Amino acid sequence: MNGRVLHVVGTRPNFVKAAPVVAALGRAGCEQVLVHTGQHYDERMSDVFFRQLGLPEPDTDLGVGSGSHARQTADLLVALEAELAARAPALTVVYGDVNSTLAAALAAAKLGIPVAHVEAGLRSFDMSMPEEVNRRLVDQLAELLFATSPEAVGHLAREGVDPGRVHFVGNPMIDTLLTHLDRLDAAAARTACGLPARYGVVTLHRPANVDDPDAARAAARALAEAAAHLDLAVPLHPRGGAALRAAGLVHAPGIHLLEPLGYVEFMSLVRGAAAVITDSGGVQEETTVLGVPCLTLRTTTERPVTVSHGTNRLVTAAELAPALHKVLNGSAPAPAEGPPLWDGKSGHRIARVLTRWLENHD
Ligand code: UD1
Ligand code: UDP
Repeated sequence: MNGRVLHVVGTRPNFVKAAPVVAALGRAGCEQVLVHTGQHYDERMSDVFFRQLGLPEPDTDLGVGSGSHARQTADLLVALEAELAARAPALTVVYGDVNSTLAAALAAAKLGIPVAHVEAGLRSFDMSMPEEVNRRLVDQLAELLFATSPEAVGHLAREGVDPGRVHFVGNPMIDTLLTHLDRLDAAAARTACGLPARYGVVTLHRPANVDDPDAARAAARALAEAAAHLDLAVPLHPRGGAALRAAGLVHAPGIHLLEPLGYVEFMSLVRGAAAVITDSGGVQEETTVLGVPCLTLRTTTERPVTVSHGTNRLVTAAELAPALHKVLNGSAPAPAEGPPLWDGKSGHRIARVLTRWLENHD
């Protein structure tokens, strides 16, 4: 097999998704380059994931950092174009739906470098989400599309994507979870955070929940109400943290505000939680596999398989406390079986398709 594969990662969810693909391609003897865009850069948003997930040190960190969508995407495009032109990979692999994903796909496509998109075909049908814009555009640019669910395959078919380019491979984020399951010690994590035996975990960072002050105030109020039923550990993403604090969310009895957690600490807490409240994409999937009830503070999800085959339910801020009460009383039915192919072998399936593609494109 000839040809180098270049992975572009930039944010916390990218690291979790890329780790099993990089590992599987490594086992297949593939030459790889790992480019970090620097979209996330804090130790707790970036470095800790490289250490804990066994990702190799990035070959380059472009240090692009934060900015408005246009500024950040423009900076990413300029930096990635130079990097891709210099490295001249046979294929660029991009992950998920963040600005780094879109910029990498666009820069590669303009340079004539084929793109593989891991987590293709997810659709919330809500174009006010920056991620929905990114996903739709990346899927138009990709040569190889790796889908995590049958629904995603269906969306791509309806959008006219050649089915020969679409591969249903399961979910690499779940590979990471299953790989590290034995390290997830819920009791140790909750003790370290000063939590009682029964607790919940909260993550909120989506613009729809935290950018609009009214929405942020409603979320903060709903969490305070929920905390009357259950102690809540709230590791705050820097973006959500500032907004929710400004909206009145305070460290108080029942509300344990925390810094963002490393993967092992976070997933350990989630594993032992009585319930999770979130607007994260990845957390909806992880709770489904761990069988932990998940209340998603959103009106849509691009991951409906976590509702049909998992523990996820969409709630409004007003519905949160009653829904939590129901979950804690055991009246939320558990699904019979998990999503298809979420079995820890997705990295291997993706690597098999990529190595075959490389062999055919010498
Ligand atoms: C990004 C993704 C979002 C994903 C989230 C995962 C886009 C459009 N959004 O959102 O889909 O769910 O990552 O976590 O790409 N900041 C820090 N330290 C960091 C990184 C960011 O303090 O290491 C702060 C900065 O103030 C920055 C803000 O967080 O302006 C937002 O960061 P950014 O990467 O632009 O978007 P996220 O909200 O993290
Ligand atoms: N995560 C973590 N520590 C935290 C919050 C999240 O390790 O404090 C992990 C978790 O595995 C999650 C992933 O980071 O699935 C990405 O989460 P995030 O909500 O940032 O991104 P999204 O999935 O919404 O794009």
